[in-house]
Amino acid sequence: VNATERKTAAGVGCVRTQTAAIDLPVEGLQLECGRHLPELTVAYETYGDLSPARDNAVFLCHALTGSAHVAGRHEPPDDTPPWWDEMVGPGKGIDTRYYHVICANVLGGCKGTTGPSSIDPHTGKPYGSSFPPITVGDIVAVHRLLLRQLGIERLAGLIGGSFGGMQVLEWVIRYPDTVDRGICIASAASLSAQALAFDVVARHAITSDPNWQGGDYYGSGRVPGEGLAQARKIGHITYLSPGMMARKFGRERREADARGDLEPAAIGEGFRTNFQIESYLEHQGRKLVQRFDANSYLHITQAMDEYDLVERFGTLKKAFAPIRAKMLVVALSSDWLFPPSQSVDIANALLRCGKQVSYCRLHAPHGHDAFLVDVEHLAEAIRAFLPWVHTAARPRVAGGVTVPAAGAAGRPARPARDREQEYRTILRMIRPGSRVLDLGSGDGELLAFLARERSIRGIGVDIDIGNVIRIIDRGHDIFQADIDAGLAMIPDGMYDYAILSETLQEVRRPKLVLREMLRVAREGIVSFPNVGKWSSRLRLGFWGRMPEGGGEACVWYDTPTVHLFTLRDFTLLCLEEGISVEDRVCIACRGLGRLFCALGRHNLGADRVLVRICRRPR
Ligand code: COA
Repeated sequence: VNATERKTAAGVGCVRTQTAAIDLPVEGLQLECGRHLPELTVAYETYGDLSPARDNAVFLCHALTGSAHVAGRHEPPDDTPPWWDEMVGPGKGIDTRYYHVICANVLGGCKGTTGPSSIDPHTGKPYGSSFPPITVGDIVAVHRLLLRQLGIERLAGLIGGSFGGMQVLEWVIRYPDTVDRGICIASAASLSAQALAFDVVARHAITSDPNWQGGDYYGSGRVPGEGLAQARKIGHITYLSPGMMARKFGRERREADARGDLEPAAIGEGFRTNFQIESYLEHQGRKLVQRFDANSYLHITQAMDEYDLVERFGTLKKAFAPIRAKMLVVALSSDWLFPPSQSVDIANALLRCGKQVSYCRLHAPHGHDAFLVDVEHLAEAIRAFLPWVHTAARPRVAGGVTVPAAGAAGRPARPARDREQEYRTILRMIRPGSRVLDLGSGDGELLAFLARERSIRGIGVDIDIGNVIRIIDRGHDIFQADIDAGLAMIPDGMYDYAILSETLQEVRRPKLVLREMLRVAREGIVSFPNVGKWSSRLRLGFWGRMPEGGGEACVWYDTPTVHLFTLRDFTLLCLEEGISVEDRVCIACRGLGRLFCALGRHNLGADRVLVRICRRPR
C-alpha cells in the first residue's frame, strides 16, 4: 500500500477548524433586514490544495445544523465522523486530490461563525435576543466575503443539500460570474406548507421552554435544552422516509432501562412509551442539545422558512435569469420534506430559461437524510458533474459507474458499424450548431458524436440513472424523465431537432411521444427497425416465429421492444397525425434487402429506417 492509497483509505486525515475575522467597512456588515453587525468572524475548514491558478475551489454549503467540519478528524479523541466524511476525501465523490474543498459555518450558527451566542462588541455580552434576523442572502454574502479574503474569486463547484441547496441557488443568482458549476441537492426554491409547519412547531417548542428566557439565557445557568430537543425530534421525523422508519424501528419496544437513554421512572410514568422510535428520538434530541444552540436553531430555521424565490422575483424563471453556472439538480426519491417535485420545479425553470441544467432523481429509500448517509450514487453524479481542473488529469467515471443501466437489460448492444451508419445519416440531416434534444439518450454516445461533428448544443432525456450519470460525465446536459409521461418540462419549440434513435419501438405511448417531440422541436428525427422487412415476413409466415424486436439477439420474451411496427405502419401514423416526412433513409444490410429497396419496395427491403419529420402546417 503506497502513501497515496493509505491516504485514500484514511480520508483527509487530521484537520482543524480555522477562523477568519472578516474585513468590514466601518459601519459593519449590512444585513438584508437593514441592521448591521459590527464584527464578523467566520469558521471554515479546507481540504486538498488550492491550485496555483486558484481554479479548483469547491465550496460546500452546509445544511441546518451542520458545521464547517465536513471531513477528517479533529485532534484526538475525536472519533465521530463529520457530516460528509464519506463524500469528501482522496478518491471520493469530491476528490481532494484535485479540488480544494472549503466549507464554512453559516452566519447565525454556533460553530465558530458569528451568531446569537457570539459576543456583541458594543455590550461585551452575547447577542442573545438582540441578534438581528438573517436571510439566506446574508449567509451567502458572508461566505462570499470569506472566499474573497482567502483570495478565491471563482469557484469550480458550489454544492449544497437541503438548506445548503437554497444557499447554492441564492449564490448562483447573486454572484453569477463566480461559479462554474452549481449542485443543488434535495432542496427547494421555498419550503412547502408542510415543511413550514414542522419548523413552526419546532420553534414554538424552543420559545415555550421557560429556560429560553426570551433568548437571553447565556450566562444564566439555564439553557432551553428541553425545547431544543423537542425541536430536533420534530425535525428528525421529517428526515426519514416512512419506509426507513418502519425498517429501523417498526413497532419494536425496548427493555425499560436497557440503554439508560430513558429514565426508567419516566417510562413508567404518564404517557411515555417504550417504543424504540421514542428512544431514538430522545437520543437524537439529547445529542443536538450537546452540540447546538437554541437561538441559532431559531434564526437559521427562520431564514430557511422565509426563503422564497417566487415571492421575491415573481416567477422562478425571472429568479433564474441571471444564472450563468452550469447546474445539476438532484432529487431523492423518498424525500418527503423536500420532495422531488420541488427539485423538478427548479430544473424545469432553469431549462425554460435556457440555462445549462441536468436533473437526476436518485433512488434513495432513506428519505431526506439520504444525501448524508447513502452517498454512493450521489458521489458518482457529483464526480461526473464537477469540471475538469488543471491540477491533474482526472479519471472520468464513464464505464466505472456502479449504477446498472436499466435500459440495457434487454437491449443487446448494436454493432458499432450499425450505430456509426445511423449516426452519420443523422449527421447529414441536421444543421451545424443547432439545438438538439436526444430522447432516450442512452449513454450519450450520439450526443457526443453530434457535438463533436456538428457542434450542436444538446441535451438528453433518459429514464435510467446509470445513463444519466454517464451523460453528465460526458459533459452533456441530461434530464432524467420518462418520455412516456410526456415532455411537460420543455416549452414549445425550444429545440431545432428532437431525436428518437431506436427508441420509438420501446415506448409505451408512441403517439404521445411523437406529438411531444414535434411540440418541443421544429423537426424530429426517428430511427426504428422495420419489421416489414422480407426476413421478418419469412420468419413469421414460414416458420411461425415472431420477428426479432430490434436487435438480432432479441427474443420475444426478452426484448425492450413494446411495439413492433413496419415502415408502412409508421407512414400511416404520420398521415393520421398530420406529420410530414421530409426525408427518409432506408438501410438494408443484405443483398436481397438492397435489391428490394432499389426496386422501390422499401417496406420489404429496409432493415432500419431513418426519417426526418415535421408538423404539417394546418
Ligand atoms: N434508541 C436510542 N438510540 C438509538 C436507537 C434506539 N432505538 N437506535 C439507534 N440509536 C442511535 C444510535 O446508537 C446512534 O447513536 P450515535 O449517533 O450517538 O452513535 C444513532 O441513533 C444513529 O442514528 P441513525 O439516524 O440511525 O444513523 P444514520 O447513520 O442513519 O444517520 C445521521 C446518521 C448523522 C445522518 C443522523 O443520525 C442525523 O443526525 N440526521 C440528521 C441530520 C440532519 O440534520 N439532517 C437535516 C438536514 S436539513
